[in-house]
Amino acid sequence: MFHVKHKALGPVFTIANQKGGVGKTTTCINLAASLAALNKRVLIIDFDPQGNATSGLGVEKVKNQRGSYHVLINKVALADVVVETECEDLYLIPASMDLAGAEVELVGVDKREYVLNQAMAAYTGEPFDYVLIDCPPALNLLTINALTASDHLLITLQAEFYALEGLTQLIDTVRRIKTSLNPMLKMHGILLTMVGHNNLARQVEKEVRDYFGQQVYTNMIPRNIRLSEAPSFGVPVMYHDIHSSGAQAYLKVAQELMHRIDVG
Ligand SMILES: Nc1ncnc2c1ncn2[C@@H]1O[C@H](COP(=O)(O)OP(=O)(O)OP(=O)(O)O)[C@@H](O)[C@H]1O
Ligand SMILES: [Mg+2]
Repeated sequence: MFHVKHKALGPVFTIANQKGGVGKTTTCINLAASLAALNKRVLIIDFDPQGNATSGLGVEKVKNQRGSYHVLINKVALADVVVETECEDLYLIPASMDLAGAEVELVGVDKREYVLNQAMAAYTGEPFDYVLIDCPPALNLLTINALTASDHLLITLQAEFYALEGLTQLIDTVRRIKTSLNPMLKMHGILLTMVGHNNLARQVEKEVRDYFGQQVYTNMIPRNIRLSEAPSFGVPVMYHDIHSSGAQAYLKVAQELMHRIDVG
């Protein structure tokens, strides 16, 4: 059994890296907001039990909040758990507190790697131009569900000494998913995040570009305090400080993403 294409949901991106704190959620929120600012209708699916994308968009993790957990475990329709955000054209499927238990609960489920894909295939609501899935820092069943439902994988890499550590494992996992679960999945690109103005960052950038070539985004995300402040206000960085280097960088990355999709 293979991945089923979903009609009303434009290209689906999983943002993943099993390494923690490498800018996945920051990228998910701010890239999605940038695409929305470029007049695209965008959906974020928060697939991380930490719920950082949910809280970072100012959506409260209240007790009875339905979200990605209910889609996975209770077969609630995707359209029924989409919420609006403060930002025009940006929508969210929140992570609720019980998502942490979903992995264990999925173990006995039939076709457990395809639960999200099936929910997406059944989606008949308003179409979205882009869907971005924020993953936990693990190659677990949640991340596998995200990858099985996606067209593209975007990896974020923090520009630090151990940046490449674990990447081989991630790329191997993607290769396995591609052969056994989702032949549509493409390695879309690698985005360097938290890039500082120092020799180490330059060295890491060179190493990553030498190794991965064109797969590495031309644009990079600088280390910028505004990016780390914005979630406490519950808004993407462009609503916090549009002139910040972080906001400007994510707008450029959104344009690069659209260009990369166009040229295939
Ligand atoms: N470009 C940046 N400049 C400064 N701080 C940043 C930047 N990107 C992310 N951060 C901060 O670094 C921390 C980790 O970022 P983030 O939460 O996006 O990583 P993550 O990969 O989603 O983490 P996790 O694996 O725990 O889900 C956060 O506090 C975030 O605000
Ligand atoms: Mg995160």
